[in-house]
Amino acid sequence: MCDAGDHHVPARYGFLVEALEIRAIIDETQRVIRTVRSDADRVEALRPAFARLLATDGWLPEACAKPDAASRMGGGIGQYALYRAEDSSLCLFSLVVPVGAETPVHDHLAWGIVGVYQGAQDETVYRRLDDGRDADRAALEVSKRQTLKRGECYALLPPVDDIHFVKTISQVPSISIHLLANDTACVWRHRFDPASGTVTPCRSGYANAPCPDDGHKTGS
Ligand SMILES: [Fe+2]
Repeated sequence: MCDAGDHHVPARYGFLVEALEIRAIIDETQRVIRTVRSDADRVEALRPAFARLLATDGWLPEACAKPDAASRMGGGIGQYALYRAEDSSLCLFSLVVPVGAETPVHDHLAWGIVGVYQGAQDETVYRRLDDGRDADRAALEVSKRQTLKRGECYALLPPVDDIHFVKTISQVPSISIHLLANDTACVWRHRFDPASGTVTPCRSGYANAPCPDDGHKTGS
């Protein structure tokens, strides 16, 4: 179950939420990874199955569809693991962004596909102008802005368009579903301040599952 308060010890890896629809998208993703070579082609191959997932009601538990007051990202943003490969090669998670809230500007560091399941989001994407050699600094400019409603998706294909933030613009919390080729919330990624140019290491963490070295390092 998604809620760590369940009487059973919650699963840390594999299917953290049992639903036929989640099994189906993970099965299809594993098939695509085996049979399609390039990341861009994998994303294209996954679009039909991902669209079906976004169009289907009832499979996302309430516990994975609510804001998280203890969010490491701030703003009550909830990030809930639905599936995690133990080797960190794949994950599926829901991201709940409360009304009017926005994520920090961040990167992802893996290919993937993201789509809106509830509400609507504005996405602002940044282009990096420097060569990335300075770990503490980044020169960014806005490259794209788009509004995403239920069923609409975008690809993540780093390093292109890998830095962005999203803001909920609907009158209900937005829920987006993320399928990425890493263990996104447990990977040390980066938070960017486009105005000052600073870059900060960050790890968002899942609300319903620990990261492997939680307790040894402090995420942000
Ligand atoms: Fe993101």
